[in-house]
Amino acid sequence: MDDSVIIKTDLLTKRFHVGTGEFTALHHISLTFRRGEFAGLVGPSGSGKTTLLNIIGTLDSPTEGDVEVIGHSVSGLTHQQAANLRNHNIGFIFQTYNLLPVYNVYENIEFALLLQNRSSGERKKAVMEALEWVGLTDKLNSRPSQLSGGECQRVAIARAMVKRPLLVLADEPSANLDAKNSHNIVQTMKILNKELNTTFIFATHDEKVMLYLDRIITLNDGVVEEDKMILNR
Ligand SMILES: Nc1ncnc2c1ncn2[C@@H]1O[C@H](COP(=O)(O)OP(=O)(O)O)[C@@H](O)[C@H]1O
Ligand SMILES: [Mg+2]
Repeated sequence: MDDSVIIKTDLLTKRFHVGTGEFTALHHISLTFRRGEFAGLVGPSGSGKTTLLNIIGTLDSPTEGDVEVIGHSVSGLTHQQAANLRNHNIGFIFQTYNLLPVYNVYENIEFALLLQNRSSGERKKAVMEALEWVGLTDKLNSRPSQLSGGECQRVAIARAMVKRPLLVLADEPSANLDAKNSHNIVQTMKILNKELNTTFIFATHDEKVMLYLDRIITLNDGVVEEDKMILNR
């Protein structure tokens, strides 16, 4: 694992306007994530996991403090620059898969590459490889409605990985899956983490996912309560 810093948050605070007042969802978060980490934000519902993941992914911005994403200070990026950073370097995986229902499996994965300028030949090679990574080569013509939840999440993993991003952000990826599928999708991500040195950051409160993490950051009421490395995984 090389030691390059992928994410650095510096005294990051996020407040939301609620009614006439304000609510602090994240308070003074200072965290560094390095290349190749397989890390998780854990903590009860409402502790700030999704808010932090969205800010790390440049989908939202901090109220105070700064975030550096792959060497770029997010506060200095235009919307277009942030979009470029995401399109090339960050893959997203969500609880509800977020696949496009009218597209088949192949097209859903290829979609991530249409935002980049790649030839159709290059796209096909990359999509077929991503399908192999998740074991869905035989389902490339299926629509999401014809797949199980576990298969849908595998398509979402392939869509996140097809551009070979430096970073994948996964928000409760196992929340709609049974135990067997939860283990399967995390094992698949762990293999890709090792083989491609992709950094993964999860938001999860699933014990089955936590089993595989090599770093567990516990959030409570928007504060980092514990940051623990787990060796030998
Ligand atoms: N857009 C928003 N406006 C107001 N409050 C929000 C908004 N987004 C999140 N919150 C609040 O911030 C807190 C953290 O939310 P969230 O990051 O979704 O937690 P988690 O993912 O850990 O369940 C919650 O209390 C939530 O209600
Ligand atoms: Mg959440």
